[in-house]
Order: sequence, then C-alpha cells, then structure tokens
Amino acid sequence: MLKFPDNFFWGAATSSYQVEGSNRLSDWWQWEEEGKLKYKSGLACRHYELYKEDFDLAKSLSHNAHRLSIEWSRIEPREGEFSSKEIAHYVDVVTALKERGIEPVITLHHFTNPAWFTDKGGWLHKKAPEYFLRYTEKIVEALCNKVRFWVTINEPMVYSYHAYVIGIWPPMKKSISNLEKIGNVFVKSHILAYRSIHNIYRKNNLKPPYVSVSKNMQCFEPIDCSFKNILAVKLRNKIFNFAVIEKMIREKTLDFIGLNYYTRQVADVKSFNRYRLLTDICMKKTSDIKKNYLGWDVYPEGLYRLFLKLKKYNLPIFILENGICTTQDNERWEFIREHLKFIHKAISSGVKVIGYLYWSLLDNFEWHEGFSPRFGLIEVDYNTYKRTVRESAKKYSHVCKTGELAP
Ligand code: BGC
Repeated sequence: MLKFPDNFFWGAATSSYQVEGSNRLSDWWQWEEEGKLKYKSGLACRHYELYKEDFDLAKSLSHNAHRLSIEWSRIEPREGEFSSKEIAHYVDVVTALKERGIEPVITLHHFTNPAWFTDKGGWLHKKAPEYFLRYTEKIVEALCNKVRFWVTINEPMVYSYHAYVIGIWPPMKKSISNLEKIGNVFVKSHILAYRSIHNIYRKNNLKPPYVSVSKNMQCFEPIDCSFKNILAVKLRNKIFNFAVIEKMIREKTLDFIGLNYYTRQVADVKSFNRYRLLTDICMKKTSDIKKNYLGWDVYPEGLYRLFLKLKKYNLPIFILENGICTTQDNERWEFIREHLKFIHKAISSGVKVIGYLYWSLLDNFEWHEGFSPRFGLIEVDYNTYKRTVRESAKKYSHVCKTGELAP
C-alpha cells in the first residue's frame, strides 16, 4: 500500500463563476449577453443555492478540504460599493464547510471580474492592484477567523494569455506584449494582497494564514533537439511556469506553492519569432498518448518532473487543481490514481506535498468550451440539477478516507 502523510488534505476544487450561476454583474456575463462568447453560463450548477447539499456530498466522500472562489462582482457590484448581503453569503458558505469538518481554501480571483472593473480597463488600468486590494481586504476581514488558506489569484499566466494575448476571454485583448505586462500586474497585486492579508491576521491576533497563488504549470517538452525547440521549452518554462512564483518568492510572499497541473505540451516551433516560440505546439507526435475530451495529453509523469524542479524552493506544495474531462468515468479514476502515485513518489523523495484537490467537485461551466467537458467527481444534470456521484469519486473517496492507495 502507498501510504500518504496523516494530516494530508484531500478534496476537490470549484470556482464561483463555473458553478454558482447567475453572476450577472461579472464581466464574463456581460460579454455573454453581448453575444461575444459562444456559450452562456446561465444557472451553471446552481451551487449558489445548493452549496450545502454539495458540501454534504463532499463530506460523504471523506473530503477534508475544499477550494472555492469568491465572486468579486457579487462583493463589489459597483465601484466602491460593497454588498453586506453577499459578504454574509460567503461567510455562510465557509461556515457550512467548517461545520462539515472541511478545511476551506479560498481563492480571491478566478478569471472573472466585476463588469465595472473591466469597463474601466481591467488589469491594464493603472489602479488595478489597488482595486483588487480594496476588495481583498473587505472579504478577508469578514472571513479571517474561519479561513487559514488563501489563494490570491488563480493561474495568472493562463488568464493573461487567454484574455490579453490571444483574446478569446474577456476583455479579448490581443497583444503578445501584454503577457508579461499583465503577469507583472498580477505579481504586484498578489504582493499587496499577501502583505495585507497577513496584517489583517496580525491585527486580529490570529495565527498567520497560509497565502499563495494557484499556479498552472505544464510539463514542456521539445519535439526534437533543434535549437528553436529547446529554446522554446526554456522560454515557456521561464515565462509560463516559474517567473511569477520566483518574483513572489523573492519578495517572501508565498507561504506555500499552489500548483495546478493538467497536462504536458510539446513545442514544435514552425518559424523563429517570439510569438511562435511561445505558442507553437505539436499534437502529432503525442497521438499514442492518452488524451482528455479536449485533446490535452494525459501525462502524470510530468507532475513528478515539475516537483523535482520545485523542490529547490523548499516550500510546501499544495495541489490545488488536477483533473480530467472525459465521457469515460473509468478514465477519471485512472487519471487520479496515476497522478497520486507520482505524488507519493515525490513525497518519498523528500518533496513536501501537503494536499491534493481534484478539479472539480462538480461538472461545471468550462469557460469558452461551455458545459460539455465533464470534469466532475459528481455528475450534474443540467436540466434537473440533480447530482450523481460517479464511481471514480467513490474510489477516490477510499483514498481520502484511509490515506492509502493500492500500488
Ligand atoms: C482553471 C479552471 C478550469 C480548469 C480546466 C484550470 O486552468 O483554473 O477554471 O476549469 O483548468 O480547464
């Protein structure tokens, strides 16, 4: 049996816009209404109303941790105006987790913004970090006595890339120069938020919280040993995987590394310019490899390779997302099992992994891909909103309960 540490965190993650439904004051909703996006999120999973039932299911599956995000547009629907009703809602949500013995891991920004913020210029606005800080302080003041784990920003580089470089997410800006620009705005926003969150805990005589980002990392590999492909991998590792966390570590503003891992990417650069070096990928060579429903490689070993690169930072690592969308539920369990084996191997070789959160607890709204990719441990029927626990969830639940995995 592979035995995981006793105090390991086991559970799943969600994000507000993807599960709550009716986030009408968010920029994403506004762009859906204006017909700029192919799919509408609508009621999503109705998790805003059904969160207690969903947490009952998480508890029944022996989860002891759960990651969710706060919808900024609910907390600050109009610039400078804060909703005490919505703040109270999230206090109730977090209380519901605690009552079930589930550790809340709270994300402050998961891809969506209040519409007013985006209308003003979004993350390109010079005061963006201050706006984010003001919202952060409101919600952290309200939740500090219940929450130990904070994630300031989900996947800063994934978001910058989709929203500001290739422009397929709101606000649909297209410029390669935005990549590092927005990345740096997120670093600044994180640093301000980190310091302020710690101050709030100090001021309230609370034990220091654990604050991080959730950093998507891919395992980058070159298709061959040519200079351009080796260079592409180097650049991608630097820009997409490590630059952001290294800046945060330098400022002593990461208490742990929040890691989101899904896939590997094979670089196959067709022509030698910065854009192509960062974006050209090969799907061909990897056709023998298993893929998820969206065509991403399933590559558990890549997680182990990243662990070895992250070891030098000497920080605890919390897997905040790892998951597969598939129509074959047996592939989900296989995916979880194989990744857990590599996590166990990493722990045995001295990497301090403190928890694993599967993406996602529920099937949900997968951004520009709509509702068809099914990532959930729990199936959602979008006509009736009925939840059905999948077999993979039950198998994973056994690991959550016992901390043991058959080799
Ligand atoms: C994001 C989630 C998304 C998942 C699957 C992550 O990059 O944080 O919001 O649903 O990947 O694509």
